[in-house]
Amino acid sequence: MGYYSQMINLDGVQSFAEGGNRKCYISPINPKRCLKVLHENLLENLQKNSAWYKRLGNSDGLDDNLREEKAYKQKAIISPINSSIWNHLAKWHGMVETNLGPASETELITNDGEIAETLEAYLFREGLTPEIKSALSNFENWLRAHLVLTKNIIPHNLVIKKENNALVLKIIDGLGSKSFIPLPKYSKFFARIYVERRIELMWSRIHWDLSGRNGNWK
Ligand SMILES: Nc1ncnc2c1ncn2[C@@H]1O[C@H](COP(=O)(O)OP(=O)(O)OP(=O)(O)O)[C@@H](O)[C@H]1O
Ligand SMILES: [Mg+2]
Repeated sequence: MGYYSQMINLDGVQSFAEGGNRKCYISPINPKRCLKVLHENLLENLQKNSAWYKRLGNSDGLDDNLREEKAYKQKAIISPINSSIWNHLAKWHGMVETNLGPASETELITNDGEIAETLEAYLFREGLTPEIKSALSNFENWLRAHLVLTKNIIPHNLVIKKENNALVLKIIDGLGSKSFIPLPKYSKFFARIYVERRIELMWSRIHWDLSGRNGNWK
């Protein structure tokens, strides 16, 4: 929240989507950007209802915007092996103040002016087409090359950008490391194991979605 930045007013702005934690708005200041605000009372309710919250002493583990801010500062992203690091990531523009609370400002992913569809929506409609298999394979190779640390990769946290007649997957949520012991953060060896496991679980989740979500996906 820079000294000169001005509070953004989201009154009268309709959210275009929401997840379990945040509401997403097109920025009234820059229509190429997305503003994500925590659901009203989310933190307060968690604070009230969760005994372990008090032991944590802060809301870092619960606040998705804080989690994301830290996650974008991971080594793979701040000192990337090459510029292809941005091929599969929505750009992150920091936190801004809004009248609904602090917002995480990111690149809004669109296709011909329409907000990009999630992988989940695509799979439910089209299934595992050759085009999306190819997009998933490129995405896997990128994860392995850069060793980007993510939480479990869920199809509604990836959106599809159309680039030169091909489909390109972009992570719009879920960066960060899931492991309690932060070994993958410091060791390439553990990062590789960690990333392989995320890819394996991504496929398990995709097949679970496609099978009508029977049983457990992990
Ligand atoms: N940068 C973006 N560009 C296009 N669409 C986006 C973008 N960010 C979010 N969305 C859409 O908004 C939805 C909710 O956003 P997001 O996943 O960040 O919310 P969340 O509450 O953190 O999600 P979760 O329920 O996974 O915790 C996404 O599933 C996607 O459809
Ligand atoms: Mg999400």
